[in-house]
Amino acid sequence: MKYSIFIFLMILTIGFASGSAVAAESSHKIPHQHWSFDGVFGTYDRGALQRGFQVYTQVCAACHSMKHLSYRNLSALGYSEAEVKAIAAQNTVTDGPDDEGEMFERPMKPSDKFKNPYENDKQARYANNGALPPDLSLITKARHGGADYIYALLTGYAEAPEGETLGAGQHWNKYMPGNKIAMAAPLSDDMVGYEDGTPATLDQYARDVSHFLTWAAEPEMEVRKRTGIKVFIFLLIFAGIMYATKRKIWAGVKKS
Ligand code: HEC
Repeated sequence: MKYSIFIFLMILTIGFASGSAVAAESSHKIPHQHWSFDGVFGTYDRGALQRGFQVYTQVCAACHSMKHLSYRNLSALGYSEAEVKAIAAQNTVTDGPDDEGEMFERPMKPSDKFKNPYENDKQARYANNGALPPDLSLITKARHGGADYIYALLTGYAEAPEGETLGAGQHWNKYMPGNKIAMAAPLSDDMVGYEDGTPATLDQYARDVSHFLTWAAEPEMEVRKRTGIKVFIFLLIFAGIMYATKRKIWAGVKKS
């Protein structure tokens, strides 16, 4: 008993400590966006996911890995098996050794993990002024604000206010904790050609890629919500049956 109170207090303390740490970090409040995956009945929008994947591939993948995703996971975005194969095969990977002991390059397969733009972290830092572009597979879980934060970050570049000095390779961003970020604004209008007629704007790219990154971090969200709803309905019916049973059992008993 004594211990459980102690543990409870510890959890409470840690909770408060991490909460205030997050609050201290961001200078601008992250605005909430409307997402199709919001709420209990929310689902991912397959069109947005495919466009977001396109933005990731054509822009972000130059610097950011997504090491937890395999190409075959993309079938959840509505791509056929042949399409997934073709997407994977656009990249090559070093494999081997072959029978002669040599390493060789081969096209990637659906079972391969997403290609990492760099051989290792040192190479990644060297290419980015010493800053390490984080892996994006779980980024919406790793940052306070999730998709709202990613969208805000990508659209939040601005001139540095007077009196603020930026170091070499640094850029001003309203939503980056500390406001200084080593990533130059990666998106601009008309950068990626959408095939479905969706406007090719910075705002739309940011929205779509945030949608895609949310899916990447939680691909099973839709199943989780559906299961939750089923459990809720079951409990509701079960409660009804129990209530009816209770009434029946006690029906003959008079109040004294
Ligand atoms: C030219 C390389 C480059 C490209 C292209 C690029 N990034 Fe980055 N990104 C970086 C670097 C470097 C950092 C680390 C910045 C820092 O720590 O200051 C970073 C950091 C980030 C972060 C983490 C910010 C934080 O809260 O710490 C996110 C999220 C991000 N990038 C998303 C994206 C997305 C989405 C795209 C594509 C639209 C993209 N990046 C394109 C280099 C790049």
